[in-house]
Amino acid sequence: MNKKTIRELDPAGKKVLVRVDYNVPMDGGGITDDTRIRATLPTLRHLLDKGAAVILASHLGRPKGGPAPEFSLAPVAKRLSALLGQEVLFAADCVGEAAEGPAKALKPGQVLLLENLRFHKEEEKNDPEFARRLASLADTYVNDAFGVSHRAHASVAGVTEYLPAAAGFLLEKEIDFLSRAVENPAHPYVAIIGGAKVSDKIGVIANLLTRVDTLIIGGGMANTFLAAKGCATGRSLVEQDKIALAASLIKEAADRKVKLLLPSDVVVADRFAADAAARVAAADAIPADWMALDIGPASADAFAAALAGAKLIVWNGPMGVFEMDAFAKGTVAVAKAVAASGAVSVVGGGDSVAAIEKAGLQDKISHISTGGGASLEFLEGKVLPGVAALSDK
Ligand code: 3PG
Repeated sequence: MNKKTIRELDPAGKKVLVRVDYNVPMDGGGITDDTRIRATLPTLRHLLDKGAAVILASHLGRPKGGPAPEFSLAPVAKRLSALLGQEVLFAADCVGEAAEGPAKALKPGQVLLLENLRFHKEEEKNDPEFARRLASLADTYVNDAFGVSHRAHASVAGVTEYLPAAAGFLLEKEIDFLSRAVENPAHPYVAIIGGAKVSDKIGVIANLLTRVDTLIIGGGMANTFLAAKGCATGRSLVEQDKIALAASLIKEAADRKVKLLLPSDVVVADRFAADAAARVAAADAIPADWMALDIGPASADAFAAALAGAKLIVWNGPMGVFEMDAFAKGTVAVAKAVAASGAVSVVGGGDSVAAIEKAGLQDKISHISTGGGASLEFLEGKVLPGVAALSDK
């Protein structure tokens, strides 16, 4: 990485503003998955060990630009405190007196978490005055919020106009692994793209097609590709306005000699429900009243065979309606095949990550990204504003 990292900082005695992505799933005030909090611990421990006073800033959810108790980061302060094994102070706002007082009083080795940045509409507008006020709390800035680095928001981009800015360990690791997918990738290189819609992943597919040896398409989006090949898709989700695009991607894969694997069989259901009647059907002949909700066993085997010899695997998106157990088998089979491949594996996207976790295979994956939208934009080949804004080495 050609940007300054936390390794090059001397944070002793300094106040360090760390942008983290603690946008964690919550259920009635309880945190249901603290992966994103845990992922920042190496950066926090490093800064604290070196004698910094750490001021943390994050967003949570999408409040409408004003305070909303259900989007408070207060529960995150508690969880972080348990994970770090030390007190985490909490400021009731991220700018103004409520933040400035505690930030000023903060001593080396102490941690202060600021309230949700998005309680101020200026955050998402990348307002320079808001960025300056945030920056005024600290002497230096660290971005460890890969998950939001595709947003040119005040705490991600604007703040770097006022403070020296370095990447934290998590950001560095994310960029390191995701870069392997787009810069000089190892071969054979297999990408697996799934999820409901082609329209969400067009940029990624187009970019990866220029780099991979094999592209596996599964999930709801496979139906649009199957329709482009003239297959009967029944009542499956097909994006009619993307059929021509799918056809052109199929042609591009052929022109580039990229092996494009689509499902050969699918699990079809008579309705979109966890307890629907289900059976396996050939992917090119889905009965009229049925819809494909998962890849079938023959597809899972073919995909696993394609993954077996890979040196590099990138996976984003589930193979079926993973949240319903009856249609999760294809995604779990792919998770197992990725884990068994021995390849460098980079996985992103909530459901693919959930499948890895459900199968208990986290330790067998080289890198599980903490970013959803951010990892997709990176794989599209875009420069992330939060990375571009960091100080050069
Ligand atoms: C995410 O969860 O993808 C990040 O925290 C970004 O959140 P956002 O899409 O609300 O900007």
